[in-house]
Amino acid sequence: MVKNVELKRANISKYLHYDQDLLNVQILHETVSTNDDAKKLHLNQSEAIALVATNKQTAGRGRRGKSFYSELAHGLYFSFAFTPQSPDPEEFPMYTILAAAALVKVLEKYVPEPASIKWVNDIFYQGRKVSGILSEMGLNFQTDNTPYIVVGIGINFAGVFKQADEDVQAVAGTLFGEHIPHEFDQNHFLADFINAFLDFHFTFQSKNFLPIYEKHLLGIGEKVFYKMDGKSQSGVIKGINDKGNLLVIKEDESVEALVGQAIEFGSKQFVKDKIP
Ligand code: BTN
Repeated sequence: MVKNVELKRANISKYLHYDQDLLNVQILHETVSTNDDAKKLHLNQSEAIALVATNKQTAGRGRRGKSFYSELAHGLYFSFAFTPQSPDPEEFPMYTILAAAALVKVLEKYVPEPASIKWVNDIFYQGRKVSGILSEMGLNFQTDNTPYIVVGIGINFAGVFKQADEDVQAVAGTLFGEHIPHEFDQNHFLADFINAFLDFHFTFQSKNFLPIYEKHLLGIGEKVFYKMDGKSQSGVIKGINDKGNLLVIKEDESVEALVGQAIEFGSKQFVKDKIP
């Protein structure tokens, strides 16, 4: 029997290590963007962590105003919305790092080779991008401007990208190839991810996700190209610092820390296709 039939709240809940009351889970047959849905759900009931999941988005968003292809035959798109553990806004972007570390950790159980992280928010498997993470933040006006964070994750389990645009086709891949494995259970997978994400969330101050992130960082020791405030630059990847910024060694041997939004860091340069 194929287990990957449909997302069901009860089939996710049975694998959760955390109390059901902690999470407000909503499953949608199809939606525009789970980041928007999770935000709404959280703002209506801000004590709980909102989680919205679907297998189809009609306008999935990526970073820097890009879209995220969300109509794969077997894709999972979901978002958490919650109050951050740390009140320091400078630490909010670390939730992208946390989510990436949780994902590569969970993937160890599901795929034979280790997954890699292309800084800051892309997960690569066998040379192609199989997942993207989009973190957004805002203030809850109903509760004295308490900050909230939305972390959205899209995962390409299986299928082909024939219908996607050229840019997606050049970079995207799947975890399992064209077909979903017979024994794969997306409800169990999502529960494993929720457990890993919440483990890191509740121990946020220890930053125990940073070493996992760095261990899986793609391109250490390699020369890479990026744009900073629109200006082309290059450097050799050294690792990350304790804020999750990417450290690159410049030609004059100085080390530069690359910080979030100002950096354009193309994924194409990391694509490695197997030679047949
Ligand atoms: C990226 O690749 O730049 C990030 C992609 C993030 C996609 C996920 S899918 C679930 C959630 N909803 C969205 O609209 N985007 C995120």
